[in-house]
Amino acid sequence: MDEQELLRTVPIFAELSDADIASLSRLATRRRYPKDTVVFFENEEGDFFFMILEGRIKVTILGDDGREVILSILGPGDFFGEMALLDNEPRSATAIAIEDSELISLHRTDFQTVLTDNRSITSALIKILSQRLRHANQQISTLALLDVYGRVARVIVDMAREEGRRLKDGRIAFRRATHQEIANRIGTTRETVTRMLKDLERQGLIHVEGKEMVVQPDFEKVFD
Ligand code: CMP
Repeated sequence: MDEQELLRTVPIFAELSDADIASLSRLATRRRYPKDTVVFFENEEGDFFFMILEGRIKVTILGDDGREVILSILGPGDFFGEMALLDNEPRSATAIAIEDSELISLHRTDFQTVLTDNRSITSALIKILSQRLRHANQQISTLALLDVYGRVARVIVDMAREEGRRLKDGRIAFRRATHQEIANRIGTTRETVTRMLKDLERQGLIHVEGKEMVVQPDFEKVFD
């Protein structure tokens, strides 16, 4: 795929004309970030907006004591780094590539020009920011209202929804996150997650198959 075709795969650019995609492509810089590379740290000044072409980016907050809270795992077609450009505050979180990733970046001034010139991008951006706020609200209520067993189940439902593909037999398969990653999404320890997952596996609700976790078709209903 050439650069312009790749830009079309980013949903916020879906409505742009060929001419607008071509001018965007001249402003954008494409770069590879190997697994475990930090794209930027929380509290840094930020001058770039990023879009993911390939790979996965973890958006995370690191505590002084080394503990981590994962806010989101973003994948191909997603964007990040817009907040510092919109409110002129430092980065609100750290972004780290958790797989070999390819990103496209736009400088602050170009991002602002593109937003001013294309109402469709502004609307798409607002829609996605609203979805992120809904998701964050759900995370807050999960942390406040569910016990740790419920939180583990909730995060599995979320991953199945966000990243899952349906198998022929109706079950849903998705990338198997590490127990530490799950723990960092729900504010608990790796040991607790290991215990809870074993329990769910014993009940036949989840299975590990190679690099994937597979859940029963009715898994959501059991926990929703
Ligand atoms: P910025 O503050 O510039 O840098 C960190 C980025 O992480 C932020 O922009 C958003 O793009 C992204 N981000 C922050 N909080 C969340 C969240 N709750 N869900 C998804 N992405 C987020």
